[in-house]
Amino acid sequence: MFISFEGIDGSGKSTQIGLLQAVLEAEGRSVVVTRDPGGTPLGRELRQILLHHKGEVAPGCELFLYLADRAQHVVTLIRPALAEGKVVLCDRFVDSTVAYQGGGRGMDGGMIDRLNQQATEGLVPDKTILLDGSVETLLGRARSRATATATAKATVPDQTDRFETLDVAFYERVRAQYLNLAKESPARFIVVNAVQPPESVHQDIIRALALNPLPKT
Ligand SMILES: Nc1ncnc2c1ncn2[C@@H]1O[C@H](COP(=O)(O)OP(=O)(O)O)[C@@H](O)[C@H]1O
Ligand SMILES: [Mg+2]
Repeated sequence: MFISFEGIDGSGKSTQIGLLQAVLEAEGRSVVVTRDPGGTPLGRELRQILLHHKGEVAPGCELFLYLADRAQHVVTLIRPALAEGKVVLCDRFVDSTVAYQGGGRGMDGGMIDRLNQQATEGLVPDKTILLDGSVETLLGRARSRATATATAKATVPDQTDRFETLDVAFYERVRAQYLNLAKESPARFIVVNAVQPPESVHQDIIRALALNPLPKT
C-alpha cells in the first residue's frame, strides 16, 4: 500500500504522516515513512540543491532534479518496500510536480505527466491525501514553524527554502492545481480540510482510509 501526502507548506503533512504511522503500526503493519525529494542518500543531496541552492535555478533544471530524485527513490526505496509488503507513507510525490512546476510555475502539464510517468516507471500511489485549506492560513503555520525552529537553534532563519519566499499568488495556483488533480482522479484522492485541529484532520483521514482509530490513552 502506497500513500502519498500532498498540500502546500504548513498544511500538516508531516504531522499527519506521524499520526497515521502510529495507527498503522498499532495494526501490526510495517510502515516506511519517506519523502520526495530526499528519500534516499542521493536524493538528500538533490534536496539540498533544490531547497537551498543560493544562485538561480532554471525552471527546467528544477524540474529534472525533482524527477531525478524520484527515479532514484522509486527504484531503490519505494518499490522494494512495497514488494516486501510494507506500507509506504510518502511526503509529496508526482502531484507536487504537477501542482508546483505545472500550476505554480506554469510549465506544460502534458509534458510533466509524461516525465513523471518515465521517472516513476508508472508507479502511482494507491491513495493520495490532499491537505487543503486557505493559503494564508497554511503559509502562516509554515512561517511560524520556521521562526520557531530558528529560535530553537538560536539562528536567524536564513535556511528559508527557495519556495518559502514565493508569493501568495504562486501558492493559490498550486492549490488550484491540486484541487484539479483531485477532481480528475477522485478514486485516488482524499481531500481533507486541513484547517481544523490536527486530531480532527487525522480522524478524517482514518475514516476515509477505513482504518480503526487508536484506543484513547
Ligand atoms: N491541524 C493543524 N492545526 C494547527 N496547526 C497545525 C496543524 N497541523 C500542523 N500544524 C502546525 O503547523 C506547522 C506545519 O505543520 P507540518 O506538519 O510541519 O506541515 P507540512 O509538513 O505540510 O509543512 C507545524 O508547526 C505544526 O505543528
Ligand atoms: Mg513537512
